[in-house]
Amino acid sequence: MRLKDRIAVVTGGGGGLGEGICLCLAREGADVVVSDLKLELAEQTAAKVRDAGRRAWAVATDVRMADQVQDLIDLSLSEAGGLDILVCCAGVFGHAGRKPSDGPMTIESISEQDWDLTIDVNLKGVFLCNRAALPHFKKQKKGRIINISSVGGRKGVDFLAHYTASKAGVIVLTQAMAGNLAPYGVTANTVCPGIIWTPMWAQGVEVLSQTHEAFKGTDPEQVFNILVQSQIPLKRAQTPEDIGNAVVFLASDEASEITGQALNVCGGMAFN
Ligand SMILES: NC(=O)c1ccc[n+]([C@@H]2O[C@H](COP(=O)([O-])OP(=O)(O)OC[C@H]3O[C@@H](n4cnc5c(N)ncnc54)[C@H](O)[C@@H]3O)[C@@H](O)[C@H]2O)c1
Repeated sequence: MRLKDRIAVVTGGGGGLGEGICLCLAREGADVVVSDLKLELAEQTAAKVRDAGRRAWAVATDVRMADQVQDLIDLSLSEAGGLDILVCCAGVFGHAGRKPSDGPMTIESISEQDWDLTIDVNLKGVFLCNRAALPHFKKQKKGRIINISSVGGRKGVDFLAHYTASKAGVIVLTQAMAGNLAPYGVTANTVCPGIIWTPMWAQGVEVLSQTHEAFKGTDPEQVFNILVQSQIPLKRAQTPEDIGNAVVFLASDEASEITGQALNVCGGMAFN
């Protein structure tokens, strides 16, 4: 119970990683405001948090919209009664509109629309959430911000230039937040997950298996397994709990001297 009675807001809390993070926070005694673009997904996670014995709220928030983000923070302060931990996990993979006829994914084939959506959700969304929480954290003089990036934020990937650029942006944005908040005793850190089977990856490998010659006709789950075995030195995909455990650590008192850092949880995929 390292986070007993603390109040957390988790964006993207209805997604694969978001749900795992919410449940790990609840396991350690935190109450959770579960926010997602899709209310029904947030409600499903909130129900699981309540089953785990903690209070939970489900909120529909589009992290691209400053007014909705402000409403989320306000709801945490008024209805939940505070805000101690902010986890920004909402994200998109960036190839939402791709069809098999679009061919292999390359930098040339990243549409302006996909670029804008990816940067808006993955980077601007984190900025808006962090900014909205700043006045409260400065006043409270304690609190934790944990932004979810990716090992993709450590090194550019050609067909994911927009995604990897957005995730690199999250790492340096978090460093800027850490510097800003340090005088108030508030920390800000990033977690960089490797490869976890979630709806995002299910969509990603489907696109890969349809558009990349090497994967054509291969079952999406098989593509995922090939990637895990070829990319991860520890030879297994991470789980949402692996990421949730890292978030719990960074939110706990044990991590009070850690700020501005990016923690890879990726089975050795990246060392920087
Ligand atoms: N799955 C992985 O292997 C992996 C690896 C590295 C990083 N990540 C990052 O982890 C985070 C969660 O990814 P996931 O794999 O759980 O994906 P997911 O698709 O399961 O979850 C993402 C969630 O974000 C929500 N979302 C999308 N757009 C939103 C918006 N505009 N406003 C609010 N919510 C929005 C979705 O509804 C969804 O519930 C993302 O930031 C992703 O980039 C995932």
